[in-house]
Amino acid sequence: MFHKTQKKLIGLTSLLVSLSVSSFSIAEGMTTEKNYAHFNSAGELIRPVGYREWIYIGSPLTPNDMNNGKAAFPEFHNVYIDPASWKHWKKTGQFRDGTLIIKELVSVGSKQAASGNGYFQGEYQGLEAMTKSKQQFPDKKGNWGFFRFTIDGSTELRTVSSAQPDANCSGCHQAQAAQDQVFTQYYPVLRAASAKGEAGIGGK
Ligand code: HEC
Repeated sequence: MFHKTQKKLIGLTSLLVSLSVSSFSIAEGMTTEKNYAHFNSAGELIRPVGYREWIYIGSPLTPNDMNNGKAAFPEFHNVYIDPASWKHWKKTGQFRDGTLIIKELVSVGSKQAASGNGYFQGEYQGLEAMTKSKQQFPDKKGNWGFFRFTIDGSTELRTVSSAQPDANCSGCHQAQAAQDQVFTQYYPVLRAASAKGEAGIGGK
C-alpha cells in the first residue's frame, strides 16, 4: 500500500517535472523566434508563402525608359522581411540568422493616373529571395543564400529554388549594398527602425 502511494507520488512528481520542463521549453520557444525559411533535403529553399502579410519595406524600380530601354531589372520590386527578423532588426539593427527577405517582381503597368504621369504597378512577374543561414551556407559571405523562383516568360513559379551562384546575385549585393548585403539605403522603413524600435516618419 505504502509502496503504491510512493509510486503515485513519484509519478506525480515526474509529471510535475515534465510539465515544468515543457512549459520552460515553450517559454524558450517564444524567445527562439520562428524561422520562415524552409529547405528540402537537397538544400533547396521551398518557395515561401504568406509573405504579403509580413513587413513590407519598399518598392524600388529601375524602369526601362530611364535605362536606354534595357534595364537589367525593369520591374517593380516589392520587398518584404519576415516578422521575426523585423522584430530582431528593430531591437538590434542587425539581420539575424534566419532572416528571409522576399522580392516580388511586378511589371510597370500604366504610366498615367488621375494624380499625374508616373509609374504604376501592372502585373505580377516573379519572385526572388535572400536568406541568411549559418547551417545552410556556412561558407558563403554573411551566410546569405540567394534564390530565384521566377520561370522566365511565365507567371508560374518554381516550388523550390537552389542557391544561385555568387556571380548571379550576391557579388553585386556584396559590393554595393549598404548593410550586410541588403540595400538598406533604399528602404527608409528599415533605416528608421534600425535598433530604434517601431518608427514613424523620420524615425520619430
Ligand atoms: C547588378 C547588381 C545586382 C544583381 C546581379 C542582383 N541584385 Fe538583387 N538587388 C540589387 C539592388 C540595387 C537592389 C535594391 C534596388 C532594387 O531592387 O532595384 C536589389 C534588391 C534585391 C532584394 C531585396 C533586398 C535588398 O537587398 O534590397 C533581393 C531579395 C534580391 N535583390 C535578390 C537578388 C537575387 C536572387 C539575385 C540573383 C538572381 C540578385 N538579387 C541579383 C542589385 C543586384
